Amino acid sequence: MSKPTIGVFDSGFGGLTVLHSLLKLLPRARYVYLGDTARLPYGSKSRQTIVRYALESARFLEQQGADHLVVACNTATALALDEMRVALSIPVTGVIEPGARAVRDTLATGKDDKTAVVLATSATVQSHAYRRELGLLGIEATEKACPLLVPLVEEGWLTDPAHVSVTSEVLRLYLLEALAEAPRARALLLGCTHYPLLRGLMETTLTTLKHPMSIVDSAEATAQAVAALPGMEDVRLQAAGAETETVFYATDSIEKFERLGSVFLGRPVSGVKLLDLGG
Ligand code: DGL
Repeated sequence: MSKPTIGVFDSGFGGLTVLHSLLKLLPRARYVYLGDTARLPYGSKSRQTIVRYALESARFLEQQGADHLVVACNTATALALDEMRVALSIPVTGVIEPGARAVRDTLATGKDDKTAVVLATSATVQSHAYRRELGLLGIEATEKACPLLVPLVEEGWLTDPAHVSVTSEVLRLYLLEALAEAPRARALLLGCTHYPLLRGLMETTLTTLKHPMSIVDSAEATAQAVAALPGMEDVRLQAAGAETETVFYATDSIEKFERLGSVFLGRPVSGVKLLDLGG
């Protein structure tokens, strides 16, 4: 049986955190990744625009031979998943359902209140897609828009002490505001592709705030959902010496995609192809 081709789409580099998790679980699949970097960020745009961008990107990946599409972008999943499912003839997995199920599983282990905080972009929060999905599972969600976090991550303000102190303060304020609304929350869902890179900082900040919570990463949960799909059995294990096959497309600067992409993927990104999807 030929190995499946998994198309992975995001507004930019952030979806590489989902690809990172997919590569761990399904190392032998073939991947085509598209980062729509020319039109990034999606998180501050209108529904109509996000749907148009998402459909153009999704159709491109289907044309590249994808047997399955993973919408690695939380914003595109929140605003355009239904439209993509209608427009494409391949199965489409978004990040919201798996993320919500992972929160349910996390909260199921304790006697705590079924309350969670979701951090996401403004567009994702305005759509209330996470609140709806978590509500279906009996979980009350407080959604918090954190528009400053994506630029801070993209600027790389994550490690050196002078810069990380700014990121840490911004994060502290967002968390304080969210926890004021949801003081009993016991799970924190990372509802944006960029936030897994802030995970360590979040853990430290939550400890400082004396509010430890389980952090749920929708990137990891999505990769697990894709790995459990029928047809993925043969690509789960890495045969000795087998090379992972990944093709990267970006709609803006190749140099920037390779540089930032390597941080998100946690391994070198090279050979990126430039794609013009129009304005
Ligand atoms: N990929 C987006 C998300 O997960 C974050 C970046 C953007 O706003 O485009 O919501």
